Amino acid sequence: MAKDEYMERTLVLIKPDGVQRGLIGKIIDRFEQAGLKMAGMKMVWVDPKFAKQHYKAHVGKPFYPGLESMITEGPVLAMVLEGLHAVETVRKMVGPTEPKQAPPGTIRGDLAHHSYQYTDKKGIAIKNLIHASGNKEEAEEEINLWFSADEIFEYKTVHEVHVF
Ligand code: CDP
Ligand code: MG
Repeated sequence: MAKDEYMERTLVLIKPDGVQRGLIGKIIDRFEQAGLKMAGMKMVWVDPKFAKQHYKAHVGKPFYPGLESMITEGPVLAMVLEGLHAVETVRKMVGPTEPKQAPPGTIRGDLAHHSYQYTDKKGIAIKNLIHASGNKEEAEEEINLWFSADEIFEYKTVHEVHVF
């Protein structure tokens, strides 16, 4: 059967602050509970060259040096999540970029509280635990950058039996 047009994949990273804070399990649990399928997963220690590829839209911005230091300071947990409208669904669950503004119920709002005022003063990146692709084009590009075809898995979840 052909995949539904609303079925999407998105790239999610638990950034070094999330890994170091021991939040991997809590964060993955939220995505699993929402019915999203884990299609790929690995731990990666990003180097500056790869950071520039992943954050190519931000290279040259004032906050980029701090962002590169942050994303290379420890391993990240990279995932491909699959589900209906997965890109938008995951962004909704992750919440706005600044944890201080992120509402309760979102991952950034519940599990972090950094502010731009503080990080701009210190010249560091805002620590918000997660990266999630911003739109469908970004998702496709980022999944291709982070995962090879044989690292992405096709299998059936109970949601495919009971929801779809
Ligand atoms: O991650 P998200 O898509 O929500 O935000 P972005 O605008 O694509 O920025 C990427 C990352 O850069 C953010 O998640 C922050 O960690 C960092 N950033 C920052 O430290 N200071 C800013 N003024 C903007 C972004
Ligand atoms: Mg972004």
